[in-house]
Amino acid sequence: MTRNHFLALLLGVSLSVISILIIFFIVCFIFYRRKQSSTNSDQYGVESPNHNKQGFSPETEELVTFHGGEDLTICDILDAPGEVIGKSSYGTLYKASLQRSGKIRVLRFLRPVCTVRSDSKEFNGVIETIGFVRHENLVPLLGFYAGNRGEKLMVHPFFGSGNLSDFIRSGDDESIKWINILTIAIGISKALDYLHTGMQKPIVHGNLKSKNVLLNSTFEPRVSDFGMHLLLNTTAGQEILDVSAVEGYKAPELIKMKEVSKESDVYSLGVIMLEVVSGKKPINPSGDDEFYLPDVVRNAVLDQKLSDLYRPEILGSNGNLSEECVLKYIQLAMSCCSPSPSLRPNMKQVLKKLEEIRKC
Ligand SMILES: *[C@@H]1O[C@H](CO)[C@@H](O)[C@H](O)[C@H]1NC(C)=O
Ligand SMILES: *[C@@H]1O[C@H](CO)[C@@H](O)[C@H](O)[C@H]1NC(C)=O
Ligand SMILES: *[C@@H]1O[C@H](CO)[C@@H](O)[C@H](O)[C@H]1NC(C)=O
Ligand SMILES: *[C@@H]1O[C@H](CO)[C@@H](O)[C@H](O)[C@H]1NC(C)=O
Repeated sequence: MTRNHFLALLLGVSLSVISILIIFFIVCFIFYRRKQSSTNSDQYGVESPNHNKQGFSPETEELVTFHGGEDLTICDILDAPGEVIGKSSYGTLYKASLQRSGKIRVLRFLRPVCTVRSDSKEFNGVIETIGFVRHENLVPLLGFYAGNRGEKLMVHPFFGSGNLSDFIRSGDDESIKWINILTIAIGISKALDYLHTGMQKPIVHGNLKSKNVLLNSTFEPRVSDFGMHLLLNTTAGQEILDVSAVEGYKAPELIKMKEVSKESDVYSLGVIMLEVVSGKKPINPSGDDEFYLPDVVRNAVLDQKLSDLYRPEILGSNGNLSEECVLKYIQLAMSCCSPSPSLRPNMKQVLKKLEEIRKC
């Protein structure tokens, strides 16, 4: 009896000691691997986002995950070898493959100087709001990481089928099909309507352009980059608006008022709708055959020649499509681009009109 008790006790104690030792070795091994992979990542010829993160102390770092990103870990994100797929004034986009799960993710690294302070209540509120957004026409945020030196990383799914900007100018027959044009316009409108009215607190996109719209293989759009202006400081926010102006998506009232609004989102949507149907870039500094939107719209209205605003092939390749339907679409796009914000329709009205045009 006592002998058995003693044996059981001995067994118990040794098992605990062994488990503690095993855990200790696992922890050491993980730390060793992390150190190694962060020093080795350059050997693979890919740029790794952890270049900028030497000297972190894990206790002060934070990873917040959202629906679909529950399995992310800090190690996953910092150790993933990544390839640069985009750069902007305020940050860099990486396509990264997470080593543990093998999943491909997009990491958006925000330059510390460009962002507002991440320890504020307001900032955390914004991240929560953006992280909560789930809509089939929006690119979700899966996780957010803030390092102790002000560096910030956003984690998104990777959608590989390309962006609207390229699609419009690809020469692909699909890009002049009326059904695809409407699918794209309706999808972007649903995304904006959701941001503007579907959430407890509305989100203004603030940087809508065809490069920020991804398409899947059936040409359903997914809008990315929404609400970024909420995370950036005033200077960095202004830089985004300057780029948006050069590219032709910036609403005219933003010259005086610096605050983007639901109405300025509607303006950008109108520009995209015209871009899709005309096949032209909204603006081109070299002035070739591209168009500067305000001029083109003004001239088309003056000359009563809205038909200048769309590619004639669209009629030819779409069976019985009447010009009337295309002109209704163009009129809707132009009302979105009205110089006066108060004259622009809201997203519910745009959607309703587009659904009518689809039945046309
Ligand atoms: C805001 O961001 C810009 C970079 O866009 C940076 O140069 C500037 O120092 C930042 N300003 C403040 C007040 O943090
Ligand atoms: C494209 O996206 C739509 C909407 O999100 C979805 O219903 C459809 O299944 C997707 N198509 C493919 C081929 O993934
Ligand atoms: C759009 O997609 C193409 C192909 O995926 C890519 O080469 C290009 O850089 C993208 N453009 C932008 C502005 O992201
Ligand atoms: C065009 O419309 C007519 C009548 O409205 C119909 O008979 C014909 O099949 C249609 N053609 C195509 C290609 O849809």
